[in-house]
Amino acid sequence: MNILKIAHRGAKAYEPENTLQAFQKALDLHSDGIELDVHLSADGHIIVIHDETIDRTTNGKGLVNTFSLSELKSFLIDEKYQIPTLNEVFDLVDKKCLINIELKGLGTAPKVVRLIEEYISEKKWNYNNFIISSFEWNMLQETSILNPNIPIGVLTEENVETALAFAESIKAKAINPDFQLLNKENVQQIQEKGFLVFPWTVNSEEDIQKVKSYQVNGIISDNPDKI
Ligand code: G3P
Ligand code: CA
Repeated sequence: MNILKIAHRGAKAYEPENTLQAFQKALDLHSDGIELDVHLSADGHIIVIHDETIDRTTNGKGLVNTFSLSELKSFLIDEKYQIPTLNEVFDLVDKKCLINIELKGLGTAPKVVRLIEEYISEKKWNYNNFIISSFEWNMLQETSILNPNIPIGVLTEENVETALAFAESIKAKAINPDFQLLNKENVQQIQEKGFLVFPWTVNSEEDIQKVKSYQVNGIISDNPDKI
């Protein structure tokens, strides 16, 4: 079985997370997909950043949703890179691999759905170019109501059973669990119910071999080249 190599926050082991450079590195490493996180700026743009503040990853301080896009662009990551928007990542990837968008910030679901619809209708992308995931299941429910064609991955760090029941209720495509929740039996159980399994964040050679032996469908890793 072909196991998809999905680069976590871009190829995070090699370039600063969630930057265009990290996503380009993921493409250079022939990743099958990239994973990224989104919040909204104060003026409603979809911003690719993991935390709700810019403190850890940039030279600025404050909540992402209190800055406009142009203000956010003035802060630097590792003294040289700008925080990207989701549009910029879509344009860089240009259908070359799957994009797993993790909804983090409030209000991201309708904006991301609209952007995906725009790329599908105007730039000839298709639904299989995307998967939306989140730990905030209410945002996944919102996504499935807004557009039931968009593939959804149910993130869980607690309980695979509960995630499975929720995935059935919203007709999700995948379960994305913390890899430590998995074993051969529950992977098979999830797949028998018709869902794909994309564990995160699997970085060591040993852990990668272990989840590969469970025959998962894809692995989210900081170093996708090791998969
Ligand atoms: O998509 C899985 C993984 O990214 C979830 O954890 O904290 O890296 O967003 P985190
Ligand atoms: Ca994430």
